[in-house]
Amino acid sequence: MEENTVAIEKGLELETVVLQNIDFAENIGAFREVAKQFEELMMMYNSAIREVRTKLEVLNDEFQVKRSHNPIAYIKYRVKKPASIIEKLQRRGYPVTLQSVEENLHDVAGIRVICSYVQDIYMVADMLTSQNDITVLQIKDYIANPKPNGYRSLHLVVQIPVFFSDGCKPLKVEVQIRTIAMDFWASLEHQLKYKTDGPVSDEIAQELKECSDVIAGTDLRMQNIYNTLKKTE
Ligand code: GTP
Ligand code: MG
Repeated sequence: MEENTVAIEKGLELETVVLQNIDFAENIGAFREVAKQFEELMMMYNSAIREVRTKLEVLNDEFQVKRSHNPIAYIKYRVKKPASIIEKLQRRGYPVTLQSVEENLHDVAGIRVICSYVQDIYMVADMLTSQNDITVLQIKDYIANPKPNGYRSLHLVVQIPVFFSDGCKPLKVEVQIRTIAMDFWASLEHQLKYKTDGPVSDEIAQELKECSDVIAGTDLRMQNIYNTLKKTE
C-alpha cells in the first residue's frame, strides 16, 4: 500500500524512475510499481496485436478456402521497446508517463501485413476496417501518395477493444500493409539509413527513389498477370 502511494505521488513518471539518478534503495517501491504497470500495459498491447492478427488470419483462411487465394503472404509484428517509447515521447515533447504513452503514441503495438498483390492491400484494409469492433483512427495512403523518398505502404491506426478480467480496454494498433516488393524496398532502405551517419547524398537518394519506382511498376505488372490468369481460369 505504501509502495503504491509513493508511485502515485510520483505521478507514475517513467522518467523519474528510469532516467534520473535516483536512490534505488529509497525509491524501490515506486520503481517496482511503475515497472509492474509498464509490464501490464505492454501485455495489453501484445493482446491487442493478437486480436488483430487473429482477424487477419481468419480473413486469409477464408479466402484460401473460398477463392483459393492468399491475400496475405505473411505477417510481422512487434511491441515497441521501452527505450524507443521513452525516446519518442521526449523527442515529441510529451510527458514520459504511462498515461502519455496511451494518449500520445499510436505505434506501441505494430503489425506489418505483407500482401502478394497491390489490390490485396486495399481488400485486406477494407475487410479489417469494416468490422464492427474496429474503430479507424487514421489512414495514410503512401501507395496513392508515395513519400518523396519513394516509400510506399498503406498505414492504418485502429483501435480495438480487448477484454481483460476487470473489463474491456480500447487499445491502438498501427497496421502497415504493403506488398512483398514494397517491403523489400522499405526493409533495405531502412537498413541503409542506419549504415550512414549523416543524410545520404542526393545521388543515392535519387537512386533509391528510382528503385522504388521500378518496383512499383513491377507490382502493377504482376497484378495484371494475376488478373489476366484469373479471368481465364
Ligand atoms: P513515426 O514517428 O515514424 O511513427 O512517424 P508518423 O507517426 O508520422 O508516421 P508515418 O506514417 O510517417 O510512419 C510510421 C512508420 O512507417 C515508421 O515508423 C516506419 O516503420 C514506416 N516508415 C515511414 N516512412 C518510412 C520510410 O521512408 N522508410 C522506411 N523504411 N519506413 C518508413
Ligand atoms: Mg512509428
